[in-house]
Amino acid sequence: MKSTKKQEKNGFGSKLGFVLAASGSAVGLGNIWRFPYLAAKYGGGIFLLVYLILAVTFGFSLMITEIAIGRRTGKSVMQAYTKVDKRFKPLGWLAGAIPVIILPYYCVIGGWVLKYLTAFASGSGHAAAEDGYFANFISGAGATTLFFAIFIALTAIVVIFGVQKGIETVSKVMMPVLLALIIGISIYTLTLPGALDGLVYYVRPSLSEFSIKTVIAAMGQLFYSMSLAMGIMITYGSYMRKEDNIETSVRQIEVFDTIVAFLAGMIIVPAVFVFSGGDRDALNAGPGLMFVTLPNVFDSMAGGQIVGVVFFLLVVLAAMTSSISLMETVVSMIQDRLGWKRLPSCLLVVGVSFLLGMLSIFGYSIWSDFTIFKMQFLDFFDYISNNIMMPIVALMTCILIGYVAKTTYVEDEISKNTVFRAKGMYRIMIRYICPLCMLLILFSSLFLTL
Ligand code: PHE
Repeated sequence: MKSTKKQEKNGFGSKLGFVLAASGSAVGLGNIWRFPYLAAKYGGGIFLLVYLILAVTFGFSLMITEIAIGRRTGKSVMQAYTKVDKRFKPLGWLAGAIPVIILPYYCVIGGWVLKYLTAFASGSGHAAAEDGYFANFISGAGATTLFFAIFIALTAIVVIFGVQKGIETVSKVMMPVLLALIIGISIYTLTLPGALDGLVYYVRPSLSEFSIKTVIAAMGQLFYSMSLAMGIMITYGSYMRKEDNIETSVRQIEVFDTIVAFLAGMIIVPAVFVFSGGDRDALNAGPGLMFVTLPNVFDSMAGGQIVGVVFFLLVVLAAMTSSISLMETVVSMIQDRLGWKRLPSCLLVVGVSFLLGMLSIFGYSIWSDFTIFKMQFLDFFDYISNNIMMPIVALMTCILIGYVAKTTYVEDEISKNTVFRAKGMYRIMIRYICPLCMLLILFSSLFLTL
C-alpha cells in the first residue's frame, strides 16, 4: 500500500504524459535505422502489412501484459515478477539485467549520433561523408568517449528530475518535435527527382520476396521496437495513474511507434534509392547505413546540410527518449531494492554504465583484436540481450501470465476502469501464439542467419 501511494505521488501526471514517454521509449534507433532496411529487404509492402498485423495482435498483447503487471504491482521489474509469483524471482533478475547491459552501449551509439549532429550543424557535413570518416571516428577512443559521456550525462539529467518533472516534461516536448521533424524531411525527400520510384519500391508488396523469414524478421523487429521484455514497460506501467485506460494507451503507443518507423522508411528508402541509382544493396549496409550511406546521401542532395542537421537531431531525440527509459528502469530497481534516493541511484547507474560503455568503445578501438564468440563487445552485448535474453524473458512472461497467475491477473487490472475490448484475442495470444512466436524468434536467432 505504501508503495502505491508513493507511485501516485511520483508517477506520471497525465495519460498523455504516459503515452508520450512510453512512445519515446519505443521510438528509437530501431525505428529509424533498422526498420527501413528490413522493410526494403523483406518484400516492401508485404513486410509492412505483416508488421502491422503483428503489431495489433502480438505486440499489443505483450505490451499490455507488461504495463498491467507494472501498474498492478507498482514495482520495478525485479520485484514485480516476484510479486506476481514468488517462484518467478529469477525471471525478475534476468529481465532486470537486460537494461543494465543495453543502456551503456545504447548511449555509446547515441554518442555517435550526437557527433554526426554536431558535424552537420557546424558545417562539416561534407567531411563526415568522406570515405573512412566513420571508421576513423570509432577507431579512436577520444572523441567517442567524449560524445558518449555527453549523451549519458544528458540522459541522467532528465532522469534525476524524476518521472513527472523530468521524463514526462521532456517527452511532452521532444516527441511532438520529433514527429514534426520526421514529417518535414519525409515530405522534402519525396520531392527529390526519382524519389517516387524509391517510394513505390518501399510500399509495393512483392509477393515473391515473402517467406517465413519475412514474418520472423517483422516479429523480431516489432518486439525490439516496442521496448518489450526488458522491464521498461513494467517500470513505466508502475508509474501510470490507476484511472487511466491501459488498452487505449497501448493502441496509441503502437500507432506512434509504427508511424515513425514507416516515415523513417519513407525518408531513407527513396533517398538512398535516388543516391545509388536504384541499387537496393545500398540499403543493406547495417550500421553503415546511418553513418556512412546517409551522410553521403545528404552531402549530395540540394539543401543536404540542413536535412542532415534535422535528420540527426531527430535521431538524437529518438535515441535520448529511449535511453531515458532504460536508465529509469535501472534506477527504479536500485530505489526499490536498496531503498536509495533518486540522485545517488542515478549516479551509481551513470558510473557503472560509463565503465561498461568504455568496454564497447575500446572494443572498436584499442582492443579491436579482442573478440567474444567472434564479436566485438558492443555487438556481443547487443546479441546476447536481443537475441537470447529478451525472447526468454518474453516467453517466461507469457508462461507466467498465461498459465501460472492466469490471464485474469492482467485482465482485472485493465478492466478496473473500462471494458477490456480485446480480451478474447488477448487470451489466445498470450497462452498460445505469443509463446510460439517467442520460440520461433529464439530458434531463428540461434540457428538461422536472416
Ligand atoms: N524501442 C527502441 C527502438 O526501437 C529500442 C530500445 C532498446 C529502447 C532499448 C529502449 C531500450 O530503437
